[in-house]
Amino acid sequence: MRGLWIGLILPWVIFAMDGERVYEQKCASCHQRYIPAETLMKNFMEQNNRLLHLKAPTINQLAYRLKQRIGDPKGDKEIQLMEVTSFIHDYILEPDRAKSICVPEVLAHFETMPSLKGKIRDEEIEAVSEWIYFYMPPTKEAKVLKFIDFKEAKALAKVQKKIIMVEVTRPTCHYCIKMERTTLSDPEVVSAIMKDFIPVRVDVSQESLPDDLEWRMTPTFLFIDYDGTLIKSIPGAWMKEDFLKILEEVKGDAW
Ligand code: HEC
Repeated sequence: MRGLWIGLILPWVIFAMDGERVYEQKCASCHQRYIPAETLMKNFMEQNNRLLHLKAPTINQLAYRLKQRIGDPKGDKEIQLMEVTSFIHDYILEPDRAKSICVPEVLAHFETMPSLKGKIRDEEIEAVSEWIYFYMPPTKEAKVLKFIDFKEAKALAKVQKKIIMVEVTRPTCHYCIKMERTTLSDPEVVSAIMKDFIPVRVDVSQESLPDDLEWRMTPTFLFIDYDGTLIKSIPGAWMKEDFLKILEEVKGDAW
């Protein structure tokens, strides 16, 4: 049985193409991964590349320019990814400044990229292109609430011994929107919630509340213990300080 499993799993490990690995092996010697836009500006526009001594544009620069300059930036992502892949394929095998999509003031600091012909396979180009296209700069910490669905939240709450916070909301509810844009976007509130709670958002114009939970107005915040019991139901929109107090109280009631 064990041998069979290994037989089934192994091909993935060997053949699944990892775009990030291709980048590290074939591009990273010249292209750095990420440098914040302001630092890049300073480096290229004011310091003549003497601040960073870059050998090539960074991946965050490439990702930004490729998405902006190739295909339709507002169109279908799958189609644009194909167009970007075909541009990268063509450029890295036949580099030519006439085809450049980078800013001339940036390119002025570099020699034309040497061709990678014979040094990279088509699947590798495809994988690395996808990785570049979906490249996300590193984030310091979650600054927004990460809502998950109720079923998932119940499972997670048990494991993490956290309280589920269900926000009952509607898209046409003025106070819901107001609270989402102020209190629920405040970094202090976000980190207080993410630390001890698992946030779930239910739009009651689209779906009903799970587990026979009740609500009378929107927004309402329902706090549910990891064993499934309702701890508190808090109707209304709240300012930051008051909402932080509510969170503390709910924790006191739960533990
Ligand atoms: C030996 C150094 C080197 C390596 C390795 C390298 N590049 Fe480049 N690349 C450059 C330089 C320098 C430029 C800027 C000059 C230019 O555009 O030709 C560049 C530019 C680019 C551009 C932008 C073209 C433009 O001008 O608009 C893309 C896209 C690109 N590289 C992709 C890659 C990918 C993908 C890899 C890895 C598979 C890679 N490069 C590997 C040096 C390199």
